[in-house]
Amino acid sequence: MEHVWLIGMMGSGKTSVGRALAEHLECPFYDTDATVAANAGMSVDEIFDRFGEPRFREFEARAVQVIASQDDGVVSTGGGVVLNPSNVEAMRASGRTVLLDVDTDTIVARLGAASDRPLVSDDPDRRLREIASAREGTYRMAADVVVDALGSIKEVAHRVEAACIGS
Ligand code: S3P
Repeated sequence: MEHVWLIGMMGSGKTSVGRALAEHLECPFYDTDATVAANAGMSVDEIFDRFGEPRFREFEARAVQVIASQDDGVVSTGGGVVLNPSNVEAMRASGRTVLLDVDTDTIVARLGAASDRPLVSDDPDRRLREIASAREGTYRMAADVVVDALGSIKEVAHRVEAACIGS
């Protein structure tokens, strides 16, 4: 197989679905946010706080390049990974990009009240809607496959497998 890159909004289930799928396929699981945090020696929140979003995006781009060169596996990405065309190119060159498609009301319901994401912390409901709407086209352009991500983690992982590995 090639890498399976899970893309989509924060709260779309990339990390939980990615973990479940990697476990099921018995392959490596990677997470761009975790790689960024490990490389920076601090949490994603702290990077945003201390150095701002542009510096975080540099770390993120480096994480994508490193993961792309590693053994094939399932990758959970940060929601903003698609904003950089070089990331999209690297993801597609090393595998398939799978958009976990979830409607914005569900994202807001999942994250709205208690979001720890730095990009939306000031007003989660409004910011999540703004970001989802601003990125909608970019996610679809970046996706090789779009998977309905409503349902249990197991169901969604199976859908990703069928849409991606099975084809
Ligand atoms: C971001 C999403 C976060 C994290 C950072 C920025 C975004 O990851 O990378 O807070 O720009 O959408 P998740 O999608 O895993 O929440």
